[in-house]
Amino acid sequence: MSNVEKLRADLKALNSEYAKIKTLPPEERGEFGRMMNQKKQKLLVEIERAEAEAESSNVEALDISAPSAPNQPIPVIKRGTRHPLMTELDRVIQVYSDMGFDVMESRQLDDEFHMFDSLNFPVGHPARDGYDTFRTAEGFIPPAHTSTMQHRALKKYKSKLENGGQIAVVVPGRVFRNEDVDATHEHTFYQCEGVFVSQDATMGQMFGVLKHFFEAYYGQKLKIKTQPGYFPFTEPSAELLIEKPASLGGKGGDWLEMLGCGMIHPNVLKTAGIDPAKYHGFAWGGGIDRLAMLKYGLNDVRYFESGKLDFLEEF
Ligand code: DAH
Repeated sequence: MSNVEKLRADLKALNSEYAKIKTLPPEERGEFGRMMNQKKQKLLVEIERAEAEAESSNVEALDISAPSAPNQPIPVIKRGTRHPLMTELDRVIQVYSDMGFDVMESRQLDDEFHMFDSLNFPVGHPARDGYDTFRTAEGFIPPAHTSTMQHRALKKYKSKLENGGQIAVVVPGRVFRNEDVDATHEHTFYQCEGVFVSQDATMGQMFGVLKHFFEAYYGQKLKIKTQPGYFPFTEPSAELLIEKPASLGGKGGDWLEMLGCGMIHPNVLKTAGIDPAKYHGFAWGGGIDRLAMLKYGLNDVRYFESGKLDFLEEF
């Protein structure tokens, strides 16, 4: 019998004792009644307390001073991981920063002037088709390449050219193409643009910078070569290739095209207010996705934008 049940039984017995009052002489009945009432009050208080106690003991007690058992499991807390391309972008920026380049942020919506005119694309020229992307109803353009930032970079840093200084800047950014998507083509990817201007910039310096970049990024010596290219904003223009190294699965003679580059066209310098008779520059731009695919041996660029967690969590 629980404490509460015992007290309730006592109360019942007490109640039945009241009947005794009739058997008592009248002068004793008052005293008896008072005594019985006192006992009853006391019992009622005790019952209330016992009930409260019984209730609280139903709640499981947490003993915070108890020692922890050796094998209590800790759940794996899933918080997501950083996107691998963001990590690669950081590494790319780090290599260029270590070489002394400034870093400028790109934008995800641009205009006709920065996309084409400032880059020496003549109106109606077929070269525009290669960069034909999307347009908002207001006529803004999600940039097809980070070169849309060249004009801004030149203007922002051109005061550095005074007194024999240089413009040295890289611009990482997200770009968008009107593309038939397959294992090697994505509609959305990342690029990094580079711009260098000085009184005596040369193509030789450009290849030096790029070779150093690739060797630092992949952490090994690499072979590079170039082939002619065409971009309206550079003259001459080139494409830079690296030989896939054995450590990354290359069998010798596998050449991979990594970026486009060239000497900045005089019209691009002039439009930004830089005198092409006094200053020369080189520029380049290439995909981050491509760099990362070679580094990690991936053969499908679509994984990056796929939202496939089992893929993304591997990094
Ligand atoms: N923007 C070009 C592309 O995405 C790549 C490129 C070529 C960038 C030559 C440059 C350059 O800065 O000088 O196809």
